[in-house]
Amino acid sequence: MSQSHSAASSNTSPSKISIIRPDDWHLHVRDGEVLKSVVPFTARQCGRAIIMPNLTPPVTTTEQAKIYQKAILAAAGEYSAFQPLMTLYLTDCTPPEEIKTAINSGIISAVKLYPAGATTNSEAGVTDINKCYPTLEMMQKLGMPLLVHGEVTHSDIDIFDREKMFIDQRLISIVNDFPELKVVFEHITTADAADFVIESSPYVAATITAHHLLMNRNDMLVGGIKPHHYCLPVLKRETHREALVKAAISGNNKFFMGTDSAPHAQHKKETTCGCAGMFTAFAAIELYAEAFDNANALDKLEQFSSLNGPLFYGLEANSDKITLQREKWTVPDSYQFGDDVVIPLRAGHTINWKLLC
Ligand code: DOR
Ligand code: ZN
Repeated sequence: MSQSHSAASSNTSPSKISIIRPDDWHLHVRDGEVLKSVVPFTARQCGRAIIMPNLTPPVTTTEQAKIYQKAILAAAGEYSAFQPLMTLYLTDCTPPEEIKTAINSGIISAVKLYPAGATTNSEAGVTDINKCYPTLEMMQKLGMPLLVHGEVTHSDIDIFDREKMFIDQRLISIVNDFPELKVVFEHITTADAADFVIESSPYVAATITAHHLLMNRNDMLVGGIKPHHYCLPVLKRETHREALVKAAISGNNKFFMGTDSAPHAQHKKETTCGCAGMFTAFAAIELYAEAFDNANALDKLEQFSSLNGPLFYGLEANSDKITLQREKWTVPDSYQFGDDVVIPLRAGHTINWKLLC
């Protein structure tokens, strides 16, 4: 990473940084008309992005993923170097043969486990992980990573405890039963999850979102309910946020960038039963830069955003660089989202870093 310091600055914080182009290892771009609204935001910043398969209907086969990938590439417009890395949605009945097809296609990078009912469009997800064991066996054998939405779904489990319960009741058995299965614990939100990943084998890694590094549950609930700060797993208490920041800036190569940018039309968020998800792709790397800067750890950003992910997935890092400048800018009140609008994180407020073109 290269840095330049402003002459006016009395401390050592740089006014500009150049880092290897990042990748987003967890992204929702939806489908249909809205693709053109959201894909270019990520394609401008990132070399690659792992595309989540929770569409309606979900992307359960390689054939569906091929069609979806074409649509995403078409929506990337001028950013033709952008590579959407596709995923399959695991169900109780995903055949092991589908994993062979996926590997042979060369376009599927991972398989996503949504516990049924855990989040947006997860109804077709897994009801009993034991039903997936033959498929997990094949994934382990062929080196196909499993991406995990790590929350239990029983109605009697407090929403703030669902991630920790998932570790205890599900994840420990999965990693014990499949010790050489690559597992990414997605969008971790607790100290428990960070500790679990640190203590697990090198086959286990995690993504961390910018919003979980920047906010705690007070940002959602104090002074009125903020529907645009509602996501899943839900924001947790400050001690957990601090543990996530510590993990992200630690230099441990098990932690990498995954925005979980999850756009929903404004009317689907601002309603009596609003959808989960924050839209952050428009300023993904800037938000991470702010979080790392707040922790005086800008020198660790590149490893987290651009090196650790490719290392885990067995890919080369991107070959070009991006430059970020310390410059406050005001986020628009909304962005176009097909025929609707989406409210971005920080709408009408400022972000401290700006990606230069
Ligand atoms: O907040 C979230 N939104 N969490 C998820 O797991 C899914 C995502 C979505 O697709 O909207
Ligand atoms: Zn997600």
